[in-house]
Amino acid sequence: MDHFTYIDGQLSAEDVPLKALAEAYGTPFYCYSTATLVRHYTVFADALAGLDTQIHYAVKANANIAVLSTLASLGAGADIVSLGELKLTLAAGIPASKTVFSGVGKTADEMRGALEAGIHQLNVESLEELAVLSEVASGMGVIAPVAIRVNPDVDAKTHKKITTGLSENKFGIAWAQAEDVFDKARSMPGIDVVGVAVHIGSQLTDLAPYRAAYTKVRDLVARLRTQGFDIRVVDLGGGLGIPYEAENPPSPAEYGAMVKEVMGDIGCSLAFEPGRMIVGNAGVLVTRVVYVKKGLDRTFLILDAAMNDLIRPAMYDAYHAVVAVDEPKSDVRAPVDIVGPVCESGDTFARQRDMPALQAGDLVAFRSAGAYGAVMSSTYNGRDLVPEILVNGAAYAVVAERYTIDDMIKRQRIPDWLDNATPKEATG
Ligand code: LLP
Repeated sequence: MDHFTYIDGQLSAEDVPLKALAEAYGTPFYCYSTATLVRHYTVFADALAGLDTQIHYAVKANANIAVLSTLASLGAGADIVSLGELKLTLAAGIPASKTVFSGVGKTADEMRGALEAGIHQLNVESLEELAVLSEVASGMGVIAPVAIRVNPDVDAKTHKKITTGLSENKFGIAWAQAEDVFDKARSMPGIDVVGVAVHIGSQLTDLAPYRAAYTKVRDLVARLRTQGFDIRVVDLGGGLGIPYEAENPPSPAEYGAMVKEVMGDIGCSLAFEPGRMIVGNAGVLVTRVVYVKKGLDRTFLILDAAMNDLIRPAMYDAYHAVVAVDEPKSDVRAPVDIVGPVCESGDTFARQRDMPALQAGDLVAFRSAGAYGAVMSSTYNGRDLVPEILVNGAAYAVVAERYTIDDMIKRQRIPDWLDNATPKEATG
């Protein structure tokens, strides 16, 4: 459930008509709903009530500091994958003591930065990484709290680009090597093995792969304990899917019930790293129709948003519902191809999608764009990074300003040997 509904014929974010925001700030722009963020976080937390849990919101899904700050006010910790994300979470008021650091390629500098900040836990994904962390932590005279991420070789049955728990994926320690790595880790200086981590993919729409992976992890924890490991945390990752189209993902309550069934008596803290489930349906991308181009055998709805603003359809063939901001007065729909202005055919949001009659100048909104939307945008084709606006009831605020071509030019330089070509304003 989200808080983007038609009020008096106008698609609104909570109490704010999107048309008013489009007039004030131009298009395209992202718009997030506080009430939806709060609802999703609360529903997820409630589904796990009764368990000893830590919720580390996966910052990669939406890293806007106002979104992070909203989640921080609800008690969320963070799951980060870079020092950049650590800075964002600290700026938003999420303490490092509630933050786990994931990722397969942490550098020594990143480890040092995270340890200096007092990171709660590092999820380590290889023996090679453990060796570097051991050196960094011992050099600093600190002990790094480590969860070892294992790869359970379970098919999450999601898009191949966002599956992470198969043995062919780069993530986690291969199942057959896991116990050996735990054993090696315990004799490494500067390393305290606090737990086991697992994450098998994103946009999971079935509980069965979760159950299979979690059961393997539970059994691994039991074996590790017989070997004398003091396992204090099991990090169960994120990945719960959301309904973009016709999917029917498990509800947080169903997920929570499965977790309780499999992990209820594990006797330690359970960590979670939800991203999409919290922010996905809490955001829309609002854009204007530039042209309705009548082709030979199809009609193209050409928008002012493009693949650089929302890359998911081009990258994962992802479906995003596209709705008219002015509530359609008739039920008549006709198929159109919904495209952006970028110069490649991949800049296509939907093919032969049934849409109401629209004209140049009309506004449409991409739903479910709160996760992996703005964070994955780029300036390709000399296009701005678009503003992000957070709504809270009838209040709203620009929480990320437009990043313009002038900002892009400011960070570029013409080298000396091209001096004669240097424009005046770039010299000096
Ligand atoms: N934890 C780890 C270790 C992860 O790698 C991820 C996502 C998450 C948590 C959060 O997963 P979520 O709850 O959001 O599914 N850009 C892609 C999704 C990439 C997901 C990467 N890892 C997309 O737009 O579908």
